[in-house]
Amino acid sequence: MLNSSIRYQDDRLYCDAIPVQTIVEQVGTPLYLYSLRRAIENYHQIRDAFAGLGGHVHYSAKANANLSLLRALVSAGAGIDCVSGGEIYKALLAGCAPEQIVFAGVGKSADDLRYAVEHRIGWINIENEAECQVINRLASERGQTARIALRYNPDVSANTISKIATGHSGAKFGLSADAIRSILERQAEFPTLRIQGIHIHIGSQLGDTLATLEAVRSTLTLIAPYHQIRTIDIGGGIPTQYRSEQALPNPAAFASALMPYLGSYDVLIEPGRSIIADAGLVVASVLYTKEHGGQKFVVLDTGMTELMRPALYDAHHEIVPLTRRAGEFETVDVVGPVCETTDSLAHARLLPALSPGDLVALLTAGAYGFVMASTYNARPRPPEVVVDLDGQTWRVARRRETWDDLIAHES
Ligand code: LLP
Repeated sequence: MLNSSIRYQDDRLYCDAIPVQTIVEQVGTPLYLYSLRRAIENYHQIRDAFAGLGGHVHYSAKANANLSLLRALVSAGAGIDCVSGGEIYKALLAGCAPEQIVFAGVGKSADDLRYAVEHRIGWINIENEAECQVINRLASERGQTARIALRYNPDVSANTISKIATGHSGAKFGLSADAIRSILERQAEFPTLRIQGIHIHIGSQLGDTLATLEAVRSTLTLIAPYHQIRTIDIGGGIPTQYRSEQALPNPAAFASALMPYLGSYDVLIEPGRSIIADAGLVVASVLYTKEHGGQKFVVLDTGMTELMRPALYDAHHEIVPLTRRAGEFETVDVVGPVCETTDSLAHARLLPALSPGDLVALLTAGAYGFVMASTYNARPRPPEVVVDLDGQTWRVARRRETWDDLIAHES
């Protein structure tokens, strides 16, 4: 979706003050492009919405872990939500203070937990009783303690695509109320663990605030007897607008719905998508067009290897030309070059007539875009370009991979 940073000026697509075509002329396609200004504006909007709750934002690095973005967010005051040792490594490299890092994940390896304990990161969010034993051992070996939040699965149904809902009892995430009570009642067995928080994350791209409220109410009932739990981490899930007709709750709607409940707790939030999705786009070239079976196909040099969301979730990304011209529109399937039928970016989409050599942008692709890219079909991954906070300068923040990169780890 277009916004204050990704917009048309004189019918040319811009990223802040830079015509996107200027970047393409030097870098080629496919490429990822991010407006750091837009990302920081999104961060400020969320931070300010939750200020009344004293909420602290930990940006969820899984949405986009580009170091330039992490550095910008850390400089703006964000902590980082990590899901692996690799993300903790990147967060530290980006200058994040260890105590501003939270570490979650349903299957943390012992090595990753050791790394987190050694670096004394702010919170480890536990999803399994066995993790209590592992962390307790790692911390006591070092004569340390570790601050812990227990991830609660509140068994609510989030209004989102089923593949990214996490808070129902059939999902692999979190601990049941009984498991949480059992851990809290047996705390003496884990003397190095300071169990001071509870974590919930019921899903991503939440269509309303109802399930979040239900989850928070259930959480408050669960933790009421345990006065040591003063922090509630409500996870991510604030949605991003992928289509203009969508009516979605904004960060302020979540904050004001939660205000009556969370006033006496420290609140953490872990937004990912809502910070970087609409600040990013993929730029692609049209390679060919063809018609058969009554369908017209537009074949791009970009597909599921660069942007996996349409193939994986049937996700919708707007496709717009880099230069808007008057002319006909036609209904087409936009597909990628990968050897699979699922490599489709848009089905039966009404677009301005496109020809080989035309440039298009896939919008709202900053979150879960590059991080989910692959080298399937031995396709080197695209570069990531950022337009800096000044809106005027741009640079390649991660270079295009080469064929040599493809074989770098093989012998
Ligand atoms: N916290 C936890 C524990 C999470 O699991 C997630 C996302 C977040 C925070 C950030 O959620 P957000 O604010 O971005 O909604 N690949 C999928 C999304 C998977 C989300 C995984 N967890 C997609 O492309 O839609």
